[in-house]
Parts: sequence; structure tokens; C-alpha cells
Amino acid sequence: MKNYIKETVDLKAGAEVILKGWVHVYRRMGKLGFIDLRDSTGIIQVVCVPDEMTQGADILDDVRSEFVVSIKGVIQERGVKQQREDQLTGKIEILAKELEILSESETPPFEIVNEERQANEELRLKYRYLDLRHERMAKNMNLRHQVIKNFREQFYALDFKEIETPYLSKSTPEGARDFLVPSRNYPGKFYALPQSPQQYKQMLMVAGLEKYFQVVRCFRDEDQRGDRQAEFTQIDVERSFVDQEEIINMLEAIMIKMVEVVAPDKKIMSVPFPRLTYKEAMEKYQSDKPDLRKNKEDKDELAFAWVVDFPMFEYKEGDERWGAVHHPFTAFDQADLAKVEAGDLGEIKAKQYDLVLNGSEIAGGSIRTHSAEILAKVFKALGHSEEEVQSQFGHLLEAFKYGVPPHGGIAIGLDRLLMILAGEDSIREVMAFPKTSDNRDPLMDSPSDVSKAQLDELHLSLKK
Ligand code: AMO
Repeated sequence: MKNYIKETVDLKAGAEVILKGWVHVYRRMGKLGFIDLRDSTGIIQVVCVPDEMTQGADILDDVRSEFVVSIKGVIQERGVKQQREDQLTGKIEILAKELEILSESETPPFEIVNEERQANEELRLKYRYLDLRHERMAKNMNLRHQVIKNFREQFYALDFKEIETPYLSKSTPEGARDFLVPSRNYPGKFYALPQSPQQYKQMLMVAGLEKYFQVVRCFRDEDQRGDRQAEFTQIDVERSFVDQEEIINMLEAIMIKMVEVVAPDKKIMSVPFPRLTYKEAMEKYQSDKPDLRKNKEDKDELAFAWVVDFPMFEYKEGDERWGAVHHPFTAFDQADLAKVEAGDLGEIKAKQYDLVLNGSEIAGGSIRTHSAEILAKVFKALGHSEEEVQSQFGHLLEAFKYGVPPHGGIAIGLDRLLMILAGEDSIREVMAFPKTSDNRDPLMDSPSDVSKAQLDELHLSLKK
């Protein structure tokens, strides 16, 4: 068993410890060796004095940065002049008794000690396991863990059930392009990776779960941007017998508590979060995700705001057709049903709400239409044929025949939220293994070729 570096500060001078980790920095001064030793919990200085060592004095010349070592030693207080107030372990050091090299390291392709992003992204992603050794990246990964943990604890405390839904799903038109997975057993047929668990979570409401949440991966074959990845994580939530006000208030309270616990240094600009209608946001800020910070450079300021009263439908110029602004399952005022039936889709307001933070949309949701009849009318108004509706949404319309509770929900874009909390400019900085901006993974080298045998098994041949 080893001691973790962060534990050393609670021990008294003279206590014996066994530390295992990476050589962060190594310096020789005459016969002495100074190791800044790093593990997942911190960094501590180890002093190697050959005369004090019962083992390992003979390998002091061999030690290099990023070697993995085991050190047995005793804690001692640093001289007053050597104490470092800005470091967790800055008042103490370890006097080494035994030193052992557990594994050697080649010289890394970029420096680990230097926090400047001197390497280009391609290199950082190819050697992501080294990039993640940077203190800043390790902090981001820890923040990611803390935020997920906090959300989970809060949803558990509210009696939400955490239920997983399939990743091998079905292609349904929900906005973005699907990632398809060919079926071996059914020639010519495909699964699709879900763009979100939207329909599954609604069917869980039909099943009577009432309160569902999930930390879930979503897949959208879109062009990448700083705040967009093809594969990203949502904290996905759905609840029965609620209205818009209840979902908004619940999520707002959860968000505030999460910031208090996980990022206490951040300042939330105004509580309750301001609410803007879509119309107000567009008129005043020319954006449906306005940045309400007073000082846009200040990364410690968190300006949350709700945007509500979105239009239900929008005309998609490129496609020359009407589409749902959020998704077709979103509810609207029943007084507008006649307009939907008449195909007059321009002026209808949706029961949709987006949560905006510092100019980013970090969550979106809606109250759903829970009548199969009305939902069918929406699909018709959007120009889907009877057959299309049956093949793509038939399962949901069928489910809605069997006692469906009024319901609604929301999904938090976890990566975007983390990007802002961490003060980063790209969501790639808060994901362990992101793709490049052109959708490749330089580490695993994907996407990659597959063998002829694999293609044959999947009944596929490639176009020349
Ligand atoms: P929506 O599509 O608005 O809603 O997604 C919810 C939130 O997910 C984040 N997000 C993304 N993050 C990173 N990369 C992407 N490509 C990406 N796309 C979206 C955003 C967004 O606010 N099923 C509905 C939710 C619901 O109605 O309950 C949905 O997926 O922060």
C-alpha cells in the first residue's frame, strides 16, 4: 500500500511514508537528488541524501522526469526559507530512505511541467494520456468528476431513478445526421446511435417511472466547433405531472447548489436567474443565448438566464420545409391547435425553455405533447407522410395509447457547462478523449479501415 501525497500534510514530522508516483522534476546538487514527486493527489519534494539511504543511492544518476518510482522515507519540516505557502505540501518534504524505479519513461513529446499549451492539438490528442498529466487537465478531469457526482447526489436526493437507455437504437429524424451501425444479423438494416434519449425517456414516463435521469452519451454527426462534439454527454432528465415552472425551478435550484459545492469561488450574477422571452432576447441582444455578464472577460462571473416562449416551428430555408425549433414532441398552447391543423405554423409558441450561461446554451428542454392525436397532427403539419410517421414514430404513438402522464424534462449539456466552469474556450479541454475539430481521434487513429471479412459479415461493400 502507498500513502497518497495529499495525506502527508496530516502526518507529523518523523512519520514514515511510502509514496509512489511520477518524477515531475528532478534536480541534482552535488551528491544530492531532489525529486518533485507527483501522484493523482498532489506534488511533494523528496530529498535524496546518499548517506541517509539504505537502498537506491546507486540509482540516483539514472532517475529522469516521468519515471515511475517508489520512495520510502520520513516526513520532515522544511527550513523556514524553503517553505512554500502556495503549495499544499509546501511546508514539508520527504527525506528518502529507499528509492526504487518501477518503470522508466522516454522523453515525452512535450513538457509535462510547463502548463503553456506549447504543443499543437494533434500532438496533444495523439498523446492524450500525457496531456492529461498536465496540472490544468488533471484539474479539469477532477472538476468533471465532481460535477457529475454532485448532480447524481442531488437527483438521488430528489428520488430520481437513474436508468440507462440503449445506444444501439433507431434512426429517427431529430435534427442532426445519425451515426449508423450496420446489422450483421439483418442484411441491409442499420441501428442508429441516439442523438439523445428523448423518445426512450418519454416511454419511461408511460412506464410509470415519474422521475428519471441519466448521465448519457449522445451522438450527432455534425460539423465540430469549439462547443460542439459528435459525441457529448447530457445530464438527461424527465418528470411526470409537472409544468414548465416546476422544471425550471427544480433545475435552477440544482444548478445553484452544484456551483456552491463544486465551484464556490464563482459568483452567480443574479438569483433567481433572469428570464427572457425569445422575442426579448432577439430584440435586445440579437441572440437566443445572450451573454449577460457585466464584464465579458471575467471568468469567475456566472450569468445564468432562462430563455422561454420560443417559437414552436421554424422554416428551414436550406431544406425548404417547416421543422420544430426544439423537437416535434414539444407541447404548445392548445388554443393554437387549429393553426397547426391548418398548417399556419409561423406564430405558435412552444413550451420550451433553454438555460443560457455566459452566452452558451447549456441546457434545453420542454413540456411534451402527451396526446397521440395531437402529436400525429404535428407530424402531419411538418409534412411527414402517414407511412413515415408510422415507421419513425409509430412506437411512441402506440405507447401514447396506454395512459400517458403529462410530462416534461430537460437535458444539460455537461461538456459545455464544464467548459465555462473551467474557464476553457473549447469543450475538448474538459473531455478525456475528444475528437479533433475534423472528427478524428489521433490516439486510436479512428476512423480506420476495416477488413474485407468484417465488411462481408455486415453485408457491405465499399463504393470505389
Ligand atoms: P438539445 O438538443 O437542446 O435537447 O440538447 C441539450 C443540450 O446538450 C448540449 N449539446 C451539445 N453539447 C456538445 N456538443 C453538441 N454537439 C451538442 N448538442 C447539444 C447543449 C444543449 O443545450 N432531448 C432534448 C432535451 C429535452 O427536450 O429534454 C435535447 O437533446 O448544451
